[in-house]
Amino acid sequence: MRRLSRFLLVLLIAGSPMPALAKEASIAPGINSPYLKPSFEQWQSVFEAEGREVYAKRQAILAALKLKPGMTVADIGAGTGLFTRLFAPAVAPDGKVYALDISRDFIEAIQRQAQEQGLGNIVGVVNPVDSTNLPPRSIDLAFVCDTYHHFEYPQTMLASIRQALRPGGQLVIIDYQKVPGLSSGWVMGHVRAGKATVVQEIEMAGFRLIDDLPLLTENYFLRFEKLE
Ligand SMILES: C[S@@+](CC[C@H](N)C(=O)[O-])C[C@H]1O[C@@H](n2cnc3c(N)ncnc32)[C@H](O)[C@@H]1O
Repeated sequence: MRRLSRFLLVLLIAGSPMPALAKEASIAPGINSPYLKPSFEQWQSVFEAEGREVYAKRQAILAALKLKPGMTVADIGAGTGLFTRLFAPAVAPDGKVYALDISRDFIEAIQRQAQEQGLGNIVGVVNPVDSTNLPPRSIDLAFVCDTYHHFEYPQTMLASIRQALRPGGQLVIIDYQKVPGLSSGWVMGHVRAGKATVVQEIEMAGFRLIDDLPLLTENYFLRFEKLE
């Protein structure tokens, strides 16, 4: 009888969930639903329009990244590939650009366009919402434009980005300024956190802020270094 109750106790413990392994809860459920079955052309006309600050300033953003031939860059949340296509010639001939997105349609269209334009160093990756799926220590720069606030699992994504970066690798975040009284109602409602919170989250994930460039007005440009 005693042996039976000990067996039942072991079964109970074995079947109980492990609190230490609790999964991060989605911080913004549904925020990515517009991209799950997107029209590439429709989103290209939104993302690649002169009225969008990051598009109008794309050459200044490219210059600030100081890309060099041979580098490996991950454009995380590549969307319609606006930055992926700019980065590819800058790191050629030996470097490459991983275009990552959770949307298979975006990645397939980016790969199609890359082929048409003769950009042979673009590698498309359809990643899950909580991981880059990149090999450890495989990239020099992780570029996240207008996507950090779309991360449903920011802690898990940051850990995955950190793991994918080589020692001394950098993470650049461009995202909307969220300032009450200054930012639009749409930004205040759509964007989860302002710059100070984002810096805090990223530093807590094992990075150090090394640059806060005054390059943009509606958005901020932050450069972090991976801490070993
Ligand atoms: C607002 S768009 C920005 C696209 C592009 N970076 C640009 O600035 O033109 C956000 C993109 O992030 C993607 N996304 C959201 N969460 C992601 C994640 N965890 N990993 C990769 N891509 C993600 C969405 O599918 C969408 O294409």
